[in-house]
Parts: sequence; structure tokens; C-alpha cells
Amino acid sequence: MELQKLDRYAKALIKEAGRKIRQSFSSKLAIESKADANDLVTNIDKEIEQFFIKHIRHDFEGHFILGEEGFGDRLTNLDGYVWMLDPIDGTMNFIHQQRNFAISLGIYKDGIGVLGYIYDVIHDELYSAQKGQGAYLNDEPIPLLESTTISEAIIGMNASWVVPNSYIENEGLVRLVKDVRGIRSYGSAALELAYVATGRIDAYMSMRLSPWDVAGGVVIAQEVGAVATNLNGQPLKLLGQDTFLVARKSLHDTLIEKYIILK
Ligand code: IPD
Ligand code: CA
Ligand code: CA
Repeated sequence: MELQKLDRYAKALIKEAGRKIRQSFSSKLAIESKADANDLVTNIDKEIEQFFIKHIRHDFEGHFILGEEGFGDRLTNLDGYVWMLDPIDGTMNFIHQQRNFAISLGIYKDGIGVLGYIYDVIHDELYSAQKGQGAYLNDEPIPLLESTTISEAIIGMNASWVVPNSYIENEGLVRLVKDVRGIRSYGSAALELAYVATGRIDAYMSMRLSPWDVAGGVVIAQEVGAVATNLNGQPLKLLGQDTFLVARKSLHDTLIEKYIILK
């Protein structure tokens, strides 16, 4: 019952936040850089995070919030209810393209993902799941994922991992690029998770993601049978950054064993 109520509340809040983002297109964005020149944030990212936090704090006393823009709580453990929020995942796309971004939200109870949401604001597509109850795209159930092979797979991956870099032996990924049917890069980890869940791509990997990038999507992807771990095949760290792999079950172990050699 409690989760049903949370689910209705979260969906309404996400839709309202989406309306605010769409309205923002008529005003000029204030754009800043964070960790480096290409790590962007806008006034809208901040306003949307604050909008969520104001409502969650008012209506769910005792719940915690982990938000990308830092207006939430500083957490040292995942006890109780934790809302993991990325107000805009794909900020570079938001700024440059006004599409290919999403609101990403996962609600965790004592470290277990119980509700997950990815809202593709431009297409008005809400991917959602409650643990154990299947996943949905708007009101339609998302079918369970079937198995596939490496040679028929489309993999979501950033091109920067295929050139020499400090995280992963790029030769392994060069082999992967040659062995698979195709490679895609959408610039929003949350959307790439939604695409794995709906079978549009067969796996997605990254060398460094934060909890709010994946918290919602992992709940959704697991409900349709995808496997999500870090690139060592271990459970994800949700209190800090980690490597990331989500894949159809039939691909997950092969990707780690044959292609991923971390430095
Ligand atoms: C980023 C996007 C991007 C991924 C980055 C993330 P942001 O999130 O998900 O696709 O490659 O690692 O930080 O900054 O747009 O919220
Ligand atoms: Ca993000
Ligand atoms: Ca973000």
C-alpha cells in the first residue's frame, strides 16, 4: 500500500517537473561548467532538483534525497527511504539539442531499489517499475527480454572508451566494436538504460556513473530480466561513483569475460 502511494506521488511529481522543463524552452538558459568545461549544468537542472526536494521533504518526512546538484542530503549509508534523483540526465543534449535527456529517479528502501522512473520529457514517455511488479512504458507493460548473441547485439557505449584511456584496455573494446552488429551512444545513461529495458539496444556500459544516473533505470531493467552490475561483475556501489554494465542476461557475462579489461 505504502509503495502504491509513493508510486502515484512520484509519477505526478515527475510529470509536473517535465512540464516545467518543457516550459523552460521559451526562456534563456544560464549555463555553467562544473568539474570540467564539458561537465555542464543549467539553472533548470538546479530548479528541477529543488522542486523535487521541496515536495519530498514536505510530504515524506524522514525520507532522504541524493540529488546530482547537491541540494539533497549528504549520506553515509542507505538506511530507510532514499530518493536518488537526476533532475536532467543528459544535460549536454538538453542544452545543445533540446531532446535526448530524461528525468531519472530511483526510490530505494534500505539499499534495495523498490521504484524506478525514467521520464523522456520530450516524447512524454515514462518508463517505470515497482520491484516484483514488472516494468511499464506509460501504461503498457514492457515484455521480458529474450536472449541474443554478441554478433546480433547493439551496444550502447561512449566512443571515448574505444581510444586509449586511463580506465580500460581499449583493445578489448576495439574487438567488441568489430564483433557486434552495432554501437550507439545517446548521451544519457538513463535513456540508455530505458533502451536496454525495451530491447532497443542490448547492453550499455560506462566507466564512471553516479547513483542518480542509474538508480531508476536499474529497477526498470531488472524487472524485464536485464542484469546490472559494475564492470567487475559485482553489485553496484550506490553511495559513490562506479563503473557500470547493464545487459541482457545472455550477454552480460560474455561482455565481462571476453571484452572488458579494466586498468
Ligand atoms: C551524464 C550522462 C552521460 C554520461 C555521463 C553522465 P548528466 O549525466 O548520463 O550520458 O556519459 O557520465 O554524467 O551530467 O548529463 O546528468
Ligand atoms: Ca546524469
Ligand atoms: Ca544531471
